Amino acid sequence: MDEALLSDVKNKVAPDGEFQLDERWAMILKNEASRLPKRADLPESEQRCPTTRAGVRWQLETLFARHVFQVQDSLLLPEVFSKLEGCCRRGSVRLADIGSGAGAASVATLDLIARIIGSGQGAGRRGSNVAVDIVLNDASTEAMATGVRLITTFASQPSSGLQVGRAVTVETPFPKSARQLRRLGGAIGPYDFCFMSYALVPLKDDSPYDDIATGLQKTMQLGDSSGTCGVVLQDQFHESMIRRLAAKLGIPCSKATIRQKVHDPSNSNEEQTYSFYRCILNAEPAAVTAS
Ligand SMILES: C[S@@+](CC[C@H](N)C(=O)[O-])C[C@H]1O[C@@H](n2cnc3c(N)ncnc32)[C@H](O)[C@@H]1O
Repeated sequence: MDEALLSDVKNKVAPDGEFQLDERWAMILKNEASRLPKRADLPESEQRCPTTRAGVRWQLETLFARHVFQVQDSLLLPEVFSKLEGCCRRGSVRLADIGSGAGAASVATLDLIARIIGSGQGAGRRGSNVAVDIVLNDASTEAMATGVRLITTFASQPSSGLQVGRAVTVETPFPKSARQLRRLGGAIGPYDFCFMSYALVPLKDDSPYDDIATGLQKTMQLGDSSGTCGVVLQDQFHESMIRRLAAKLGIPCSKATIRQKVHDPSNSNEEQTYSFYRCILNAEPAAVTAS
């Protein structure tokens, strides 16, 4: 793991330790939200699991950036960052984003890859494009459609160094979708990262922990020595839920706290400290290499 590169990328996404969106992302998100209708009386169920375009807009304006920051903080753990670096050296990355919504976890990853490429250091020295294959799995086609647009808009900026190959959406609810996700992983190559960001709450409505854990392991193709890194995140209010899943998976669960600057709908920049829980599956040992 290249410590100088990690520190450079960290300083860019979280200057002075505070995560914030850069201007490019703020503009892309704002444009995407403005394409969607706004509804003042949005039901709570639409905020949690948006099935309508107005619900997706609420998610984009309210939760999206916060979840991006929490995924990024997790990808910047040395043992996880080394995997991201390896993808940049190889020139390709394959992502599975379960309960993707509008793709916060995928967006977080692509932003970090673009910053590694842009750094020109270590793995970024390679200088050419990183090919991206993404599988989004969500019960909401509207949310996934927005996710695909966000991903392709970001990647199509000339400076991103990213090239989207396949952006596939899977509408079958997880964990039923696990077999399909695994098959797709067989076709495009084993996933480098498999995310479940803030999806445990709706998933738990319909499925037992055993089924969720087995579905995740199946998607990651654990046992096939694929080296997929799994990242599961959930907010502080559902600690017992993520701890129970971690126990089923036989891995630790830890609390993290980050500082973030979020742009709220009333158009002010709000600074917050936020705690959440995460489990990381199958991370690589972070051997330090000279840059
Ligand atoms: C709170 S959102 C999280 C979205 C995104 N991952 C993030 O971090 O911002 C939860 C998502 O899970 C999706 N969802 C609910 N049940 C699902 C299921 N059985 N399979 C896949 N996705 C599901 C919802 O449609 C919603 O988009």
